[in-house]
Amino acid sequence: MKFTASCAELSDLKTDSLILPTGSKLENSAETINQWTNNIISSAIASGEFSGKSGQILVLNLPESAIKRLILVGTDGLTNQRQVKKAVTGACFALNKTKSKTALWLEGGITETIEAEASMVAQSINASLYDYKKYNGDKKPSLELLTFLTSDKSATSAADAGLVYGAAVGDGMNTAKQLGNLPANICTPSYLADQAVALGKKKLNKASITTEILNRSQMQKLKMDSLLSVAEGSEEPPKLIVMKYQGTDVSKKPVVLVGKAVTFDSGGISLKPGRGMDEMKYDMCGGASVLGVMNTLTQLELPINVVGIIPATENMPNGRATKPGDVVTSMSGQTIEILNTDAEGRLILCDSLTYAAKFDPETVIDIATLTGAVISALGKVASGVLSNEQQLANDLIESGTQSADPVWQLPLWEEYDELLKSNFADMANIGGPQAGTITAGCFLARYAKDYKWAHLDVAGTAWVSGANKGATGRPVPLLMAYIRQKSEENCD
Ligand code: BES
Ligand code: MN
Ligand code: ZN
Repeated sequence: MKFTASCAELSDLKTDSLILPTGSKLENSAETINQWTNNIISSAIASGEFSGKSGQILVLNLPESAIKRLILVGTDGLTNQRQVKKAVTGACFALNKTKSKTALWLEGGITETIEAEASMVAQSINASLYDYKKYNGDKKPSLELLTFLTSDKSATSAADAGLVYGAAVGDGMNTAKQLGNLPANICTPSYLADQAVALGKKKLNKASITTEILNRSQMQKLKMDSLLSVAEGSEEPPKLIVMKYQGTDVSKKPVVLVGKAVTFDSGGISLKPGRGMDEMKYDMCGGASVLGVMNTLTQLELPINVVGIIPATENMPNGRATKPGDVVTSMSGQTIEILNTDAEGRLILCDSLTYAAKFDPETVIDIATLTGAVISALGKVASGVLSNEQQLANDLIESGTQSADPVWQLPLWEEYDELLKSNFADMANIGGPQAGTITAGCFLARYAKDYKWAHLDVAGTAWVSGANKGATGRPVPLLMAYIRQKSEENCD
């Protein structure tokens, strides 16, 4: 799939599909095209077939023409990036259905900058071309070239930059989606480690990437007994994946991403109910998003240092498994009474957060499908964000708005932390039935005292259930928007 920007005359162009964002009032190119086509657009509006409302899509075939079809995308009432993303995604799916080889996207002025529009288009095109069965297979999607048409010559370089960025983010989302969708008998901790090692071998021009895998005995030496307690009941060996992307001077402190990768969460001895348990193969989507970001970074080679830490394990209930009431000592020295073995995400993250300190981080962000409670609170729209530093929370909220991959903040107050009290250890691993997302955050906060840290609970946003069940690639767009912003600060 290739992307390019151009400001060529419309009359000179040949294409399988021309995508035209427009409202009900036809302006500029929309009006020109309408005239060429014997008022095909205004007729569709007059007949009510196309209203121009935000997100509406209409495909109009133009037989015998250099432009074989028009795909109209409604733009009336587009007020935020989430709606823009919805409209663009709708157009991309309509385009894929046409089996077009080439397509033109006519700049629609639907975002504040042309770069942002081009980036959303390329991201959505790449993300919409993902197909679980075809991924890595030899069957290629039909679309080969998308040209982003700007009305002004001076805008093509901004559009080009947007296309490069968006395409790389779309690819990163697809990496995350594919790993999320793979069944747990294939996507084991060792499989994830192999993927990370392969990515770490990529030779880059301006930057470098390396991968190190810590095995069980190395984790034992580091005293990661909380992490290891989760792996205890499984036949699959746990792996701690550590990836270092270096895009700028080593002296620059890295952004550290910590991604939960429970490749299957049965609940352990606190076994989950059977219904929908297959979906617990997605419990590694936090880790997958870190691999997605690393993939995107290797394409963009942004001037920033990023460390990815991915604790990978299964949570299973065999005869050696951790039992409710067991007490473990985490790497930090703090002891944990494991009252529920299904609250395992925080047990692998806490040791990873302690380990993260060794990289002298600028900020640490963990990404985890951590609680069912976040789905009750925020549904499938926003991820939860909790942070010990308001500026970091604000930065993530802003990045989420920009990238249409939104987050919403929840508090980390001491009243919630108190719910973690234990009679037999420094803390329990659950805080009772209320405010589950927050008490999970409070648990993690106890391990993140030495740096600026934020926790993203993506249990609601990393995949969709139902007939269209599958991983979404979130929050790769959010994380990349944050990282890009940070990398631009490095250039100032
Ligand atoms: N992986 C789950 C969280 C989850 C639940 C994600 C449903 C997506 C859908 C996590 O490990 C878990 O089991 N959390 C428990 C915590 C509870 C035992 C305190 C939960 O949310 O029920
Ligand atoms: Mn669990
Ligand atoms: Zn889990």
